[in-house]
Amino acid sequence: MTDRTFYLTTPIYYVNARPHLGHAYTSIMADAMCRYRRAAGDRVYFLTGTDEHGDRIAQEAAKAGVNPKAYADEISAAFRETWLQLGLSNDDFIRTTEPRHQKIVREILQKLYDAGEIYFGEYGGWYCYGCERFYTEKEIVEGKCPDHQTALTFIKEKNYFFKMSKYQDWLIKHLEDHPGFIQPERYRNEVLGFLREPLHDLSISRPKSRLEWGIPLPFDDQYVTYVWFDALINYYSAVTEPDEPKTRGLWEHVQHLIGKDILKPHGVYWPTMLKAAGLPLYKRLHVHGYWTIDGQKMSKSLGNVVEPVPMQEKYGEAFRYFLLREPVFGLDSDFSEAALVRRFNADLANDLGNLVSRVTTMIVTFAGGQVPKPNEEFGDEERALETRSLRVLREVDKAMEEFAFQRALSEVWLFLGVVNRYVDLSQPWALAKRSESRRRLDTVLYTLGESLRFVGILLEAFLPDTAHKIRTAIGQTAEPRLTDARWGGLKPGTSVQKISALFPRIEVSVSDEVKLSESVKAELSSPKIPIDDFMKVELRVAEVLAAERVPKSKKLLKLTVKVGDETRTVVAGIAEQYEPEPLVGRKVVIVANLQPATLMGVESNGMVLAASHVGTVALLTLGKDVPPGSKVT
Ligand code: MSP
Repeated sequence: MTDRTFYLTTPIYYVNARPHLGHAYTSIMADAMCRYRRAAGDRVYFLTGTDEHGDRIAQEAAKAGVNPKAYADEISAAFRETWLQLGLSNDDFIRTTEPRHQKIVREILQKLYDAGEIYFGEYGGWYCYGCERFYTEKEIVEGKCPDHQTALTFIKEKNYFFKMSKYQDWLIKHLEDHPGFIQPERYRNEVLGFLREPLHDLSISRPKSRLEWGIPLPFDDQYVTYVWFDALINYYSAVTEPDEPKTRGLWEHVQHLIGKDILKPHGVYWPTMLKAAGLPLYKRLHVHGYWTIDGQKMSKSLGNVVEPVPMQEKYGEAFRYFLLREPVFGLDSDFSEAALVRRFNADLANDLGNLVSRVTTMIVTFAGGQVPKPNEEFGDEERALETRSLRVLREVDKAMEEFAFQRALSEVWLFLGVVNRYVDLSQPWALAKRSESRRRLDTVLYTLGESLRFVGILLEAFLPDTAHKIRTAIGQTAEPRLTDARWGGLKPGTSVQKISALFPRIEVSVSDEVKLSESVKAELSSPKIPIDDFMKVELRVAEVLAAERVPKSKKLLKLTVKVGDETRTVVAGIAEQYEPEPLVGRKVVIVANLQPATLMGVESNGMVLAASHVGTVALLTLGKDVPPGSKVT
């Protein structure tokens, strides 16, 4: 990474609804990215906030019987509180009702007006109050808003317009010259797609007679500023205080993270506004997909929201981990609590939690709680870990450059896999039994301690609390810095403390700790697989040509079977229930595309299907005669 200043924003969230998992997703990603860049040694500034003007909020406030400001105060506080509870590290929280913001919006409007970039005119079109924007005929789906699936309203009125159309060619060229300006690529293409249609001027005001809840135009007090024109400017107004050293020089480095629902305002309106105002453009726009529930976007209007704070209370940092680990950046992902529990158990309880507990316990038990000095020359296994650590650093860095959190975490988990295998192979508990292997034991324990130190730094971005616990257990008190994630940095003699239950496994049968609903339990007990997974299994009819017992085995029979034109050997665990001879000539069903496995010295090429019930085993047979090799579906 070359650029050492990093200013990242999330969208400012509308205060018409309380924070849900979708908002938390964006904010958590931004937090992970900022923590990562801080650990990389960059100057980082992380901004989030709330978008408080506009029709939608005025309408919700009216419904609740309060004035818009009181309504906005309450929900804005709920966002702030949620981010605090999720442990987010934002440097600022901006509200569009704050004077510092309103002042800048008015200044920019005046500047554009004076420069002839804004004119007075009339426009009629289909408007979505949910999105606070007009939709073109092409964008409308079955007469409805494509995002909210609600009816649109035809609005015709006199308003002020920003001459956006004149920037169409400039913006196309900018996108063509700067391939990374909007990423992932598909969203850059989507914006280029919008720009193939004629770009209209943008109506940037609303008559006060219709809407009072907004920033008055500086040049006509009968109008207020259109909410998008007001909202986008927050990114700039938050960092323009001239006497504030914390924010000085940040603007040129700004990058935005948004969901795909607000691509057009960020990919089209915003760069043209900045260009017209003579301000530097943002450096990059990062666009993520939706969380869906059973394939539907999560949103208040669809009534399927998941609240982040209860999730965090129930699952701790595993909630954050799941949001970062599951989706491919830019694509949609379906949320399910059962999938979260599965990840909790497999990745966090097993791969990470067990490792941390095993290693710290072994250093405490076998080395008196102090990192031993490695005595031997490091062998191939130790060098492999070191090489691996370099690869993880490189790959995580590449992934983070693209906001590919899922890839970054897969890399870290590959590394954990290698460390777990290292424990199994080097067997420190066996080394501890013999005094002659003491030297080897010290080397192994040192290497394992070093692996934890490394992971404790690397996980800071993704699991900050857990990473902190790991670093503390392994005696690391310094701020996590990626430059310290260099192999061999652990000092012999460092005190180590045991941590045994970072992520206690969630057992479905005895889930008193975490209250799982009956539906989540049911899903966990019989996980559903997609049809594609099932289609990978090739089931075929096979005719038994010969059968014999596998020597020295009570359970196994060796069957020679014919599958189509081919003859192969399959070992089946049915010897306690079936004599070999009567099987000859029978037709059974086998899994034909299993990788070969050797059982008691016999190579088996497939598996015979049989049902079992309390000690009874029943071979699957056919209701009608079909030739061997026939497919079973
Ligand atoms: N106020 C505007 C943004 C103005 S930015 C200058 C707005 N607010 S919003 O409250 O509707 O938040 C939209 C953002 O919340 C999305 O862009 C995305 O970051 C996040 N998400 C809301 N629902 C989401 C999902 N179901 N899934 C993923 N992210 C979601 O638009």
